[in-house]
Amino acid sequence: MRFRRLTGLLAFFYAVLHLAAYVVLDLQFDVGIFWRDLTHRTFIILGMAALTLLLPLALTSNRFSMKRLKRGWKRLHRLVYGAAILAGIHFFLSFKTLNGTSALYLSLLALVLLARAPMIWISFRRKGAGRL
Ligand code: HEM
Repeated sequence: MRFRRLTGLLAFFYAVLHLAAYVVLDLQFDVGIFWRDLTHRTFIILGMAALTLLLPLALTSNRFSMKRLKRGWKRLHRLVYGAAILAGIHFFLSFKTLNGTSALYLSLLALVLLARAPMIWISFRRKGAGRL
């Protein structure tokens, strides 16, 4: 919990460098292939969606945004669960076949999400009760 901001920012910068490596090294700036991949290849679409969800989180990972957004900040940062699931599926689909590595990392992701499930459930219940 102490390092979650740092971990989140590292995840975001990993994804940005990963995208840059793909555009520069793999595609050599070919915008046509990039666009085709972005509109036709499911795992690229999911990767881009994950990165898009991480962007507002990276931009608001500072004390100023926390103060400005107040309770909305917490709600916004729940997008991290969506980003994690999308990135997990993206990673899984980037392999052409089922293998030990993807199965291991998907299981780890499932475990982390399961560990957070009670907290998420409690927070949703509390909000529901507040609205009544
Ligand atoms: C949160 C965002 C993302 C995460 C966590 C992520 C993670 C990963 C991981 C772990 C792999 C497998 C290992 C590797 O080849 O590096 C992978 C593969 C891949 N990703 Fe991503 N990715 C993300 C977003 C993107 C985006 C935005 C693109 C491009 C638009 C992309 C393109 C690719 C490609 C082309 C591969 C396959 C590489 C190969 O065939 O060797 N990813 N991704």
